[in-house]
Amino acid sequence: MIWASLPIPALLVGPDGSITEVNPAAETFFNASSRSLIGQPLLDRLSIDAPMEEAFHRARANQSTIFINDVDVTTGERAPVQCNVQVAPMHDNADYLMLLISPRDIADRLGRSMSVKSAAKSAIGMAEMLAHEIKNPLAGISGAAQLISMNANPEDRELTDLIVEETRRIVKLLEQVEQFGNLRPPDRRPVNIHDALDRARKSAMVGFAAHMQIVEDYDPSLPSTLADPDQLMQVFLNLIKNAAEASKGRPGTIRLRTFYDLSLRLRRKSGTPSVLPLTIEIIDDGPGIAPEIAADIFEPFVSGRENGTGLGLALVSKIISDHEGWVQVDSVPGRTAFRVSLPVAPKKMEKS
Ligand SMILES: Nc1ncnc2c1ncn2[C@@H]1O[C@H](COP(=O)(O)OP(=O)(O)OP(=O)(O)O)[C@@H](O)[C@H]1O
Ligand SMILES: [Mg+2]
Repeated sequence: MIWASLPIPALLVGPDGSITEVNPAAETFFNASSRSLIGQPLLDRLSIDAPMEEAFHRARANQSTIFINDVDVTTGERAPVQCNVQVAPMHDNADYLMLLISPRDIADRLGRSMSVKSAAKSAIGMAEMLAHEIKNPLAGISGAAQLISMNANPEDRELTDLIVEETRRIVKLLEQVEQFGNLRPPDRRPVNIHDALDRARKSAMVGFAAHMQIVEDYDPSLPSTLADPDQLMQVFLNLIKNAAEASKGRPGTIRLRTFYDLSLRLRRKSGTPSVLPLTIEIIDDGPGIAPEIAADIFEPFVSGRENGTGLGLALVSKIISDHEGWVQVDSVPGRTAFRVSLPVAPKKMEKS
């Protein structure tokens, strides 16, 4: 049977959150028999360093698979194992969810020799170095082309213009790579989320999102968060940019939604639970995230666009994790929602 031969731990979870089915790989992973597992609340047997109840709810509500990468999963007394987790609603009965747990060592054996994080780090270091080295000669090339164009006939000028235009494009790309490497630690202070959203919206409207309609759906009573205002605005800008680009030039609607949601509790590595009630959603009505890259979009250099660098979401993920927040995505054709969850600024600081 396919189920039994799946080489990674897989479980079925019923409507009440209890385990209804486990495959042999899951029995090994839990070090327990299926008999002792079935019927038990999943989250009693398994602790995952991510908002699982929320993920379950969203998988059910939206009928889509949720990917959660690089989380610590603990069973019983075992030391936590880094895993990629997928939650998928069952085809014939959406109340049942399939949970696939791929421990990173297996994920790595299936083709990657280094952990993605360190591989990404060295890729970024390398790219940064290259970016720096390439910019100088590029300036020379573009300058020379401009000199030639002064005495060139119109036909040749078309070519020199092309050189100048394309070098400019490369420089822009290199600057993005450099910006990614240069990210400083956040200078956090109480920030009104709507101010940051507004700055991002305004800048988007006059530029890359001019063809889009942006709808604001805010809860104005939201308290401040503790954030670096510029970095927070960068996060929203990157998400709005992706939403605008997803429509491929056609008009579309981007909804910016904020609300207070106490259900998201993250268990930190230190064991202290933290609440991330400030919720910001950037929702577009574009075609959705291509399934081939869905699991990796937050990794650097993963892009589904022809001219994409693949750094936008990597930067979002880095900034949000520097802010002790959480970002997740939910995508089906016609509705893609990126959801950012942030903590509330401590009361004392808000007054000062
Ligand atoms: N709202 C969205 N709808 C559909 N696909 C998306 C959406 N947001 C992101 N993606 C997909 O995820 C990929 C990665 O996004 P990311 O922002 O990291 O890189 P990029 O947009 O390709 O390049 P960059 O942001 O560096 O210019 C995109 O190329 C796109 O394929
Ligand atoms: Mg992008």
